[in-house]
Amino acid sequence: MITVRGKTIEPLFTAEQIAERNEALAAQIAAGPSEDLLVISVLKGSFIFAADLIRALHHAGLAPEVEFITLSSYGTGTVSKGVRIIRDIDSDVKGRNVLLIDDILESGRTLLFAKELMYERGAANVSLAVLLDKRVKRQEVLEADYVGFECPDYFVVGYGMDVAYAFRELPFVGVVTGDA
Ligand code: IMP
Ligand code: MG
Repeated sequence: MITVRGKTIEPLFTAEQIAERNEALAAQIAAGPSEDLLVISVLKGSFIFAADLIRALHHAGLAPEVEFITLSSYGTGTVSKGVRIIRDIDSDVKGRNVLLIDDILESGRTLLFAKELMYERGAANVSLAVLLDKRVKRQEVLEADYVGFECPDYFVVGYGMDVAYAFRELPFVGVVTGDA
């Protein structure tokens, strides 16, 4: 347990566990449709996971191009409603193998939107890599191709994930358990 910003945070997945999973995921990704791969990091939450995963992809022998898309679920608080593009990619995805990277697959709305968008734009293949799969919250029929960890139904922070912009810097994934 650690204290940050007056809150107690219980680690759920450690930095070491995450690093080990990233190397394993990269090996799986390299064995899938990965020729001339275009990786798209779904911001903001995936920025740390994507940064580590693309370096693991290098270890796995891949040389991907890397892009960013900023998506936002509108609606209030922690409930996702619609999805909107805040900042789009610049690349042409036509005929490309695309890997979308996100922090967490929950309702599935964000990644279903992004996956359909890339197919509409003519991508040859779109795969999904997520650090965490919170499948009890799924609202759409969608599975990730590459999953770091199954996630229990807690609101998690750290390793890029925030609550009200805080806690993204934590090197592990944790749960806010209370006031210190
Ligand atoms: P979905 O569209 O419901 O699958 O929402 C997934 C998005 O919601 C993720 O990309 C995260 O940015 C955010 N999210 C969902 N659950 C959590 C959580 O437990 N902590 C932080 N962000 C979350
Ligand atoms: Mg996100």
